[in-house]
Order: sequence, then C-alpha cells, then structure tokens
Amino acid sequence: MDLQRDVVVIGAGACGLTAATALRRAGLTVAVLEARDRVGGRLWTDTATGALLELGGQWVSPDQTALQETVQELGLELFSRYREGESVYVGHDGVPRRFTGDIFPASPTTEAEIERMIGVLDGLVAEIDPDEPWRHPRARELDAITWRAFLEQLSDDAEARDNVALFIAEAMITKPAHAFSALQALLMAASAGSFSNLVDADFILDKRVVGGLQQVPERLADALGDDVLLNRPVRTVERTDDGVVVHADGDLVIRARRAIVAVPPNLYDRISYVPPLPARRHVMHQHLSLGLVMKVHAVYETPFWRAQGLSGTAFSPYAVVHESYDNSNHGDPRGVLVGFVSDEKADAMLALPEDERRAAILDSLAGYYGDEARHPTVYVESDWASEEWTRGAYAASFDMGGLARFGADLHSPVGPIRFASSDLAGHGYQHVDGAIRMGRRVAAEVLASLPAPVVV
Ligand code: FDA
Repeated sequence: MDLQRDVVVIGAGACGLTAATALRRAGLTVAVLEARDRVGGRLWTDTATGALLELGGQWVSPDQTALQETVQELGLELFSRYREGESVYVGHDGVPRRFTGDIFPASPTTEAEIERMIGVLDGLVAEIDPDEPWRHPRARELDAITWRAFLEQLSDDAEARDNVALFIAEAMITKPAHAFSALQALLMAASAGSFSNLVDADFILDKRVVGGLQQVPERLADALGDDVLLNRPVRTVERTDDGVVVHADGDLVIRARRAIVAVPPNLYDRISYVPPLPARRHVMHQHLSLGLVMKVHAVYETPFWRAQGLSGTAFSPYAVVHESYDNSNHGDPRGVLVGFVSDEKADAMLALPEDERRAAILDSLAGYYGDEARHPTVYVESDWASEEWTRGAYAASFDMGGLARFGADLHSPVGPIRFASSDLAGHGYQHVDGAIRMGRRVAAEVLASLPAPVVV
C-alpha cells in the first residue's frame, strides 16, 4: 500500500496521537503508524478475571495541566486515590511503623535530617529550568557526580540518604542511585515543580481516570479514525529532497513532508535511517536508556487494610516492594494494592522462578499490611521490559554526563525528521503530561517549518 500525507507520525502513544490531533486540526493530512495491535504505548488498561488493572501509567497530579486539559477535552472523569488513615514505613530494622504526613518515622535525628536534605534539594531544584537543566551554572559538575555520591556529600546519615534517594532512584528513574547523575535527579524533581512535590504522595499520585488513563490515547485515536494504522512497525525512514519516505511492515510506504518519531529513545535505533543520522545523533541516542520497574497488582475481596486504619500507602528503601498504594477502582468494592519493585531488586526478582517471585513479592506486601496480603484473588505483574516496543519502564534517562553533554540537542530536527516523547520532556518529564506537552510542541514546530501556507 502506498499513501501520501503531510506528516507521518511513528508511534501511537499519548505523544504521537497528541501531535497528530494538533496537525489534523491545523488542516494537515496525517497518518500514525503503530507497531502494536493497540494504541497507548506505555498506557495500557487490561482486565484480569474481571478486575480492571492499569498496567502502565495511571496517576495525574495537580501540576500536570496539559494532561488535565486533555482529560477534560475528551470528557473523561477523574477520581481521587484512597488515602484515609495511616501509612506504613519499614526501616532498616525491618519493623513496620505507622505514620501520617510525608516524613518517614525514623529516629528524630534522621527525620530532622531528611527534612533538612529536602530543604537543600528544594533550593537547588528551584534554580533548575526543567526545559533546559543543562543551562544551570553547575550543570557539568552536577552531571559528573552520581545521585548516590551527591547525597553522601550532603549527609552522613545513611537512613536519611536511603530515604531521600528512593524518591528519585527507585520511585522515578528506576535505576540504582549510582547509575545516574545528580543533575538528572534534579531535573526529575524540577519537572514536578519541586523536590517536596515528589516526596508528597498525595500530590504526585493524586488522581486517576475513571475507567483508566489509556482512554486518553484511545479517544484521540478514535477521532483520527483510519489515519491510525496498527500492526505497522516502521523499519526505515528515508530522507528525500522534499520530505520522507517511510517503510513499515505489510509493504506500507508513506510519503510525507515531515516525520515525527514518537517512540521511546531506546527504540530510535530499531529504525534504519537513510542516509544515516548525523554522527552526534547516533552517539547521543546510545546514552539514553530506560530504567526497570515491575508494577504489581494484588486484588482482594475487600480493601482489608482500611478496616485496620491503614491508607494503603507504604514505603521502604529496604523492602522488595519499595512503595505500595491502595489502587482500588472507582465504584468497585474489591480492594486492590499496587506495589513497585525497582532496579536491582527487580533484577533479583526476575531471576527467580515465577512462584518464588510471587511469594517474595507478596511477602513484602505482608510486611506492610499483615498476613492477609499473602492471599490475593488476582495477582498480576506488569512486564514492560519484555515488551518488544517498550523494553523497560518507566522512561528514559541519560547515563552519567549525558544530560549536560547532549541535552541541548535533544530537540533539534534532522532535516524533515523530529523526535518527541515523554522521555524528552522538561515539565512532565517521564509522565503522560510530558508526552502531551511534547506532542503539542513538535506539532507546532512542524507547522512552523512547513514552507507552504497552512490554513489554521
Ligand atoms: P509511548 O511509549 O507510550 O508510545 C510510543 C509508541 O510507539 C508505542 O505505542 C510503541 O508501540 C510505538 N512504537 C515503538 N517503536 C515503533 C516503531 N518502530 N514503529 C511504530 N510504532 C512504534 N506516567 C504518568 O503520568 N503517571 C503514572 O502513574 C505513570 N506510571 C507509569 C507506570 C508504568 C509501569 C509505566 C511503564 C509508565 C508509567 N508512566 C506514568 C509513564 C507514562 O506512561 C509514559 O511517560 C507515557 O505514556 C509515554 O508516552 P509516549 O507517547 O511518549 O510513549
């Protein structure tokens, strides 16, 4: 099949579909080519024996205004995460302790130290522009020190460091704290407004969409109709004198004036570019990689923890499941817990046979909520790292020194080709909000770049 469009978008995630929608509204013809048999990419709502489970992105926070606008435009409804009652913290002594508020109940000196460290980090984060972190006067220095080493310089209280590290390493970048830089960590916090916002689960994990966040890409795709083509992995993007020729599976060839590559950066190199991309681009792409996190759902007849006065929120830098929440669905009486197993702990879990892994993860949940947590009616582990068209979770980050070295070039086009995804966002970095912001931005850049007058 041969098609002709103004713009071809590669990838039907929130980013690609937002870009295609904006371009269509501006009067251009578009086609969105998607490798999978579904739209949404890292947004995926599935049902396991009748329980609705959001296997990918799900939470919406108050600062995520681009996502909130889209949710509203699409007529979707938000509901609040359950958060009544006390949270649980397990320190390095392995003892569960109940608490309220944001600061984990360690010893009074460690609690005070955590608060001091958060204050210092808030000060630094306020100096960082998430859209241009490489412009900070100390960017190179901060990009040359690991997040772990930076925290070691900041405090000699190991438990305070482990807790502060968790908010960025296990909980966001999903790589060990020695595997990415302090600048990358500060960008992560700046993208959410402040370090304090990241620490505040009630802020960052505020709301969910009734029926699941995947409805955002699904509704965008519905409006684009036949211009979204599924099961079409793009294999080659050729640059020509007047645009691109894109080759996808099923003998599909699309000629277009512009191409938007809206796939995660770790997959850029799965596409062949003819002629090859510029040398610096080739190298830059190799410095961006995804983290690793397993999102685990356990469904119970009732949210039994609520009767014990627990909110379902639980943390421990020392447990297999480093954070866990009440993830019960709107209008469903069943109780759902969601837990996360990140970076090297995920390595260890993935090395186990399935039944041993399940037992170890449920054991970790039982450490927070008691023995009842060991007996869910439904248990589902998300496996994004095995997904051909994602290969990790949640999103991409630079290796040491990469952000200061390459960051400013992330958004430059290569002739008619532009790259966009949540992984390249400043505000909303690694989140759906960032995917939508990048979709809007790249659409505006494409429009501005086209020589012919465009009817808006
Ligand atoms: P995305 O990866 O979604 O889309 C890219 C698309 O390109 C995919 O559909 C893929 O199949 C396709 N593709 C790849 N290669 C291709 C090729 N060669 N040809 C054609 N198509 C190709 N965010 C948030 O805001 N709140 C949250 O709670 C969470 N939680 C969370 C949990 C988990 C487990 C994950 C994995 C992720 C999150 N996130 C999140 C992150 C959020 O889901 C993510 O940042 C965005 O959905 C990314 O959207 P993009 O469109 O940028 O990429």
